[in-house]
Amino acid sequence: MGRDDVKKRIEKLKKVIEHHRYLYHVLDRIEISDAALDSLKHELKKLEDENPEFLTPDSPTQRVGGKPLKEFKKVVHKTPMLSLEDTFNEEEFLKWVERVKKVAGLRFVSDFFAELKFDGLAMSLMYKNGVLQRASTRGNGRVGEDVTQNAKTIEAIPLSLDIPEFGDIEVRGEVVISKKNFERINIEQKKKGGQIYANPRNLAAGSVRQLDPKITSSRHLDFHAYALLGGPGLETHSEEHALLRRLGFKTDNYSSRFNKPEEILNFRKNIEKKRSTLSYEIDGIVVAINKKDLFERLGVVGKAPRGAVAFKFAPVEATTIVRDIIVQVGRTGAITPVAVLEPVEVGGVTVSRATLHNEDEIKRLGVKIGDTVIVGRAGDVIPDVKKVLNDLRTGSEKVFRMPEKCPMCFEKIILKGAIHRCVNVKCPARHRENLYHFASRQAFDIDGLGPKIIDALLDSGLINNAADLFELKEGDIRPLERFGEKSASNLIEAISKRTRIEFPRFLMGLGILHVGEETARDLADHFGNLDKLKKAGMEELRSVENIGDIVARSIYEWFRDKYNSDYLKKLESRVFIIERRVKKKGKLQNKTFVLTGSLDFLTRDEAKARIHELGGKVSSSVSDNTDYVVAGLAPGSKLDKAGKLGVEIIDEKKFLKMLE
Ligand code: IVH
Repeated sequence: MGRDDVKKRIEKLKKVIEHHRYLYHVLDRIEISDAALDSLKHELKKLEDENPEFLTPDSPTQRVGGKPLKEFKKVVHKTPMLSLEDTFNEEEFLKWVERVKKVAGLRFVSDFFAELKFDGLAMSLMYKNGVLQRASTRGNGRVGEDVTQNAKTIEAIPLSLDIPEFGDIEVRGEVVISKKNFERINIEQKKKGGQIYANPRNLAAGSVRQLDPKITSSRHLDFHAYALLGGPGLETHSEEHALLRRLGFKTDNYSSRFNKPEEILNFRKNIEKKRSTLSYEIDGIVVAINKKDLFERLGVVGKAPRGAVAFKFAPVEATTIVRDIIVQVGRTGAITPVAVLEPVEVGGVTVSRATLHNEDEIKRLGVKIGDTVIVGRAGDVIPDVKKVLNDLRTGSEKVFRMPEKCPMCFEKIILKGAIHRCVNVKCPARHRENLYHFASRQAFDIDGLGPKIIDALLDSGLINNAADLFELKEGDIRPLERFGEKSASNLIEAISKRTRIEFPRFLMGLGILHVGEETARDLADHFGNLDKLKKAGMEELRSVENIGDIVARSIYEWFRDKYNSDYLKKLESRVFIIERRVKKKGKLQNKTFVLTGSLDFLTRDEAKARIHELGGKVSSSVSDNTDYVVAGLAPGSKLDKAGKLGVEIIDEKKFLKMLE
């Protein structure tokens, strides 16, 4: 290749690599594999090494080129990086709107722009003639630090822009780290005894301020742009967003224009609902006056522009007082201690109960009745007690002891492992929970038969157990308060649909201790029908795949209990159990999966069904028997455990490949 051709080839390679960066990071699209892209980068690197005169600072090979620094240089921001005034509720937000109107001397303000408020670290990027010159942190708003080397390692930051014509521009945005990467890095840090980061913001900030850009690069940071300074002089903030996106930046996809403040209240509510499913932490929304001239005219109050406001989400933690500690009896007799709280708002809803999980957790927290505690709530998860504020104790707090007798049936409670259990199979509390379970999605899946209706049926004496459901007539239930003609007939129809039931669902419905969905399937696969299972001795039960001593004993004893067998006889006479045929061997035969976090392309149930179709198994907890942990969005502690046990963690992409 002649020099001219080399130069052209280098230019082309840079363009193609940049194009795929844009597709991947901004549009979430993949057109060529990582391997193919690496191969192009490799060729570019080789050509640049051989022809250093053609190496430019915006080359994708320069993303991790820098040497460790001794310290960061200081940078004075041409335009100060302001902060935003916070508002926490609708009233405060509407007051801001009123103030804007008053200061602007307007009767109406009708053009707002609302976007996500990312919880990371603010960064300013200076582009000269379309090429990234300098990246800096916010610092105190006036003086920040030069973190150019580190910013270059962030693939979501373009090193050069498509349209350099309009001279120097400054792009501002937020450096963030995904929840997934946050978990991964903390696991790695734990393994090597390094620093554990409290939250993704903390980690993003720590990673941007690493003196060695190689470390920053390994953190896989991301960047969302939210403001453009300089450039073609646009009239609105929404146009800025659109242009930033065209220039190759990632901007938030949810952002939108609104005419009425009330619409923004709704927008915030909707985003708050989605919050736990987003791959990044956000802590609210930012609302700005969309027209730039009005925005400018509104000026600055203190260190914040008057024309924009942060509209934060309700905090997901709050402090309150433990009024009492009670216990709840679950389906399998498990006794769960629950803190009765002085009602408090957490994450936008009022909470008056929080689970304490079990006695060990009470000991770990050291919680007493009367204590001031921190309660937390994440998404739709049951609120729990996070911490006791010991310094606020008065001395009158009372120690809680687990009861020796079940509060519902007054029979003995026994301790097995960490769990206390009521051992009375006839316990009314267990009975009720068992019925909820019988009708639930994984078991008989009776449409419309939720806890409230089951309560009404039990309390009116219409049913005593699940078998009675199949004898109900429309006229029996229509007089109940919650039923009209239509819903009564719908319920009867839904129940009658389940008089033919697959064997695993039937087994699930029995509510045998330790028999979850997977075990029910294993049992059905092994025995094929109920008669064989009923007759099985301990030896045979133990020989079933994935069934150990404890589970085998629980099943064995269940079928030999007089109360259970009477119930079973009744149930069998009213439903037809579809026998299980032997399964074909599939490509995931003998492979056990654990799913954690939410997937983009499949629901949990779909993923499970696909694994089963291919002969694989799904388990709810990670153990030595786990082959793969599939990590979706916002995975939980299972990932941690997988890391500790050295179980292979795969992402959704790889998982989908396996299912092909
Ligand atoms: S400012 C005219 N937008 O919040 C509209 N700030 O700014 C200007 N932040 O630490 C938009 N997400 O880093 C804006 N979408 C967003 C933001 C955002 C996060 C942070 C920013 C700074 C603080 C106040």
